[in-house]
Amino acid sequence: MKEVFTVEIKITKTTNPKQKPADESKLGFGQYYTDHMFIMNYDAGQGWHDARIVPYAPFQIDPASMVLHYAQEIFEGLKAYRTADGSIQLFRPEKNMARMNVSCDRLCIPKIDEEFAIEAIKTLVKIDEDWVPTADGTSLYIRPYIFANDVHIGVHPAEHLIFAIILSPVGAYYPQGLAPVPIYVEQKYVRAVVGGTGFTKAGANYAISLKGQEEAAEQGYIQTLWLDGVERKYIEEVGSMNVFFKIDGEVITPALVGSILGGITRMSIIELLKAKGYKVSERRLSIDELVDAFKSGKLEEAWGTGTAAVISPIGELKYGDLVMPVNNGEIGPVSQMCYDTLTGIQWGKIKDEFGWTVKID
Ligand code: COI
Repeated sequence: MKEVFTVEIKITKTTNPKQKPADESKLGFGQYYTDHMFIMNYDAGQGWHDARIVPYAPFQIDPASMVLHYAQEIFEGLKAYRTADGSIQLFRPEKNMARMNVSCDRLCIPKIDEEFAIEAIKTLVKIDEDWVPTADGTSLYIRPYIFANDVHIGVHPAEHLIFAIILSPVGAYYPQGLAPVPIYVEQKYVRAVVGGTGFTKAGANYAISLKGQEEAAEQGYIQTLWLDGVERKYIEEVGSMNVFFKIDGEVITPALVGSILGGITRMSIIELLKAKGYKVSERRLSIDELVDAFKSGKLEEAWGTGTAAVISPIGELKYGDLVMPVNNGEIGPVSQMCYDTLTGIQWGKIKDEFGWTVKID
């Protein structure tokens, strides 16, 4: 049954605006937050209610709040971009909100009204529009999330939840920007199995990936490439990104088998490459096939895709003792084209023939 949703957003503006970061070239990722946030509550019997935009401030959470104990939480990530004419646009927000409800369903979180959530995002971004950065390569990262807030440490689906949206002006996710990153193929830990939550944006998915990431970092690798959790054979995704390989002219990305996140950037890159006439396959790709491709000189390019990371070329893969440099550690032509076209559309420098962008007026 469809819930009844609040349609009005009560707005309380801050009387004490924060200092904005002085140097937009040093924003990094997730270091600054804007003046306002969106909040809406869910209470069983009442549905989602009390939508409001308020000054950015800490939550008061009871020590017994369920999210602190059982991690019933999901999130999304999208961006608002400043275009050359000074306007602001979103990139495929409807896809994020649809995916948010997929995550809600898996985590027993009451669904949100997707259109209303997009309105909430637009209203919040409009209020904090001066925070949308203008420097090259910057954007306003939008983080919607929902968490369980029952004051009860029994294990059950929450009956009281909070949906919030916060905003953060950001630059590149990786400090090295578009420079290719070295990736460690993880063999000790797994991220997800079919039937689990790997296809959702559950915060817990990221918590369980930290150990592998930490151990990879000790060896100088920026992220881990996850193999499937059962056979440890098939390539799934990289820490915070989906992954693409170009092997002997074919662009391959792992099929969404149930344990892999259906990235919006992934989807867009597949559509873009197909429109440009590339052969793109969504299929299972084993680590052995990748190693064979490397050894026979057919591994041409590799890159990750994600909202935060955009397009992130992979310069090296380490699998056991085997170190596999990709494209001499340099960004390849297809990765570069994907980056230029995607960001060109997002920042309004290239005509959006796909109808992906949504203006905020
Ligand atoms: C995003 O790309 O928006 C993500 O959610 C990755 C995040 C964990 C930084």
